[in-house]
Formats: sequence, structure tokens, C-alpha cells
Amino acid sequence: MIQIDDLGLRYATARGAIDALSGVTLTIGRGEFVSIVGPSGCGKSTLLSVLGGLLRPTAGRVLIGGEPVTDPSPRLGFAFQDPVQLRFGGVSRHRERAQSLLEMVGLKGFESNYPKELSGGMRQRVAIARALLLDPEVLLMDEPFGALDAITRERMGYELLRIWQGSGKTVVFVTHGISEAVFLSDRVIAMSARPGRVIDDRRIELPRPRTPTSQEDPRFLEAARILRGLLMGPEDAVQAQQPAERQPRSAASSRVPT
Ligand SMILES: Nc1ncnc2c1ncn2[C@@H]1O[C@H](COP(=O)(O)OP(=O)(O)O)[C@@H](O)[C@H]1O
Ligand SMILES: [Mg+2]
Repeated sequence: MIQIDDLGLRYATARGAIDALSGVTLTIGRGEFVSIVGPSGCGKSTLLSVLGGLLRPTAGRVLIGGEPVTDPSPRLGFAFQDPVQLRFGGVSRHRERAQSLLEMVGLKGFESNYPKELSGGMRQRVAIARALLLDPEVLLMDEPFGALDAITRERMGYELLRIWQGSGKTVVFVTHGISEAVFLSDRVIAMSARPGRVIDDRRIELPRPRTPTSQEDPRFLEAARILRGLLMGPEDAVQAQQPAERQPRSAASSRVPT
């Protein structure tokens, strides 16, 4: 579904060139749920922008469904952290679909509320519903749950999986939460510090549907441990194996690079 060949992206700035991505090669299958993890500033958002046709690569290429990506396309839906514009404005052509999407994400009855009247979780639901509005084949999500508290974040993960399961949609999910990536995904791609390149491409062999006990599965723990070691260096990984690992996610995520 998505083919990324030797992708590079160099930003030209007043103070010189910044290589955000270099030599990224990756293939993502139709219907796959793939997470991208990596330290802050490694180029994750840049990569999503290139996939979404918002930024032109300066090297290599991206094909989606066999076609080069040149502009934003209705085949691609975007959901970001901190959605600012929340109302389903300008969607009168799609009103019926908007209604059913809001119902699907549990917001029936909130159609005419103002953003400030919605909780963080509700806003994120609106963002997901909005991204699904044009029934895209590919959903590009940039730290969509980053602003949520730990419990809402976990709940939204289940919700997203429920929406995705059986939809045939391809999801590219950017996060810096290692556990979240492993829990949600078919595959986790780890990126190096800038310029971002792929340092690990790991299939997560956990049965679906994922449940709370998935997080106790030895395969979950092993994948998370390896990824932590790759992204944080051996010392932190060793600490992460100790009982602190079983603390609530809010405590665990504070060890993740931001
Ligand atoms: N518009 C821009 N102009 C110049 N540099 C940028 C721009 N956007 C991002 N960068 C730089 O590119 C690198 C990657 O940024 P980004 O893709 O946002 O990383 P991430 O999403 O992984 O945190 C960072 O060093 C960032 O400062
Ligand atoms: Mg980012």
C-alpha cells in the first residue's frame, strides 16, 4: 500500500540545511497497523507530512497504492495531536456520514458543542472522526493521543483498534510511547535520532483483538524491552526491566524520550 524508497528530506533554513530524514526505506501492506517510534526531533512528523503529500521529499520517493504522492489526497486521512479546529464545519456534503462517524466514536448528541465544552478524549474522537470523513484508505496519525491523560489514552487505543479492525484501512501511527506502539501495532518501526533512519522493523506477534492481558504477554514484554534498549540505550533498558515496569503508564512514559 505504501512504498517508501530511499527517502530523504532536507529543510533549507536561514541557518543552513537540516537533514530531517535520510535513506528511509519501508514498505507497509494494505490494512496493516504500523507504528513509528523514535526520539523527539528524529523526523517522525516530517515523514508523515511526506506520506500525506504535504511536503515534497528532497530524495527518493513515496508511492501510495502504486502512485507517487504529490498533493494531499482524499485517499489519506490525517489526525494530529491537539486538534485546534474541532467543528465539523464545511462538511454539509457529508453530513450524514459525519453523523454516523460521530456516533461511531461515541459523540452522538455533541454535534453542536463548542470545542471548549469537550474533554480532551472527546476532542481526539472528533479528530479521528474527521480523519475518517472521506473514507480514506490510509490513516496518518501523528501522536494523536499525546495530550491525553494515561487512562483516556489507553481507552482511545482500544477505540482506535475497534474502528480499524475489519476496516481494511492502513494506519501509520506516530508515537513516542513504546508500550503504546507495541500494544496497538502489527509492526513497530524504530527510528534513529536525526537524520531519521529506520533502525528496527519489528513484527508484533500478538493475537488480536488486543486486550488488557496482551500487555502481560511475554511477546509484548520482549518487544517492548528490545525497543527500549534500541531507543534508550542499554542502561535505561536494564532499569526498565525492573519492577518499575509494572507501574501505571504515566510513570512508565516519563522514561520515554520526549
Ligand atoms: N519547517 C521546518 N523547517 C526547518 N526544520 C524543521 C522544520 N520542521 C521540522 N524541522 C526539523 O526537522 C527535524 C525533525 O522534525 P520533526 O519531523 O518534527 O521530528 P519529530 O516529529 O520526530 O519530533 C527537527 O530537527 C526539526 O527541528
Ligand atoms: Mg512530531
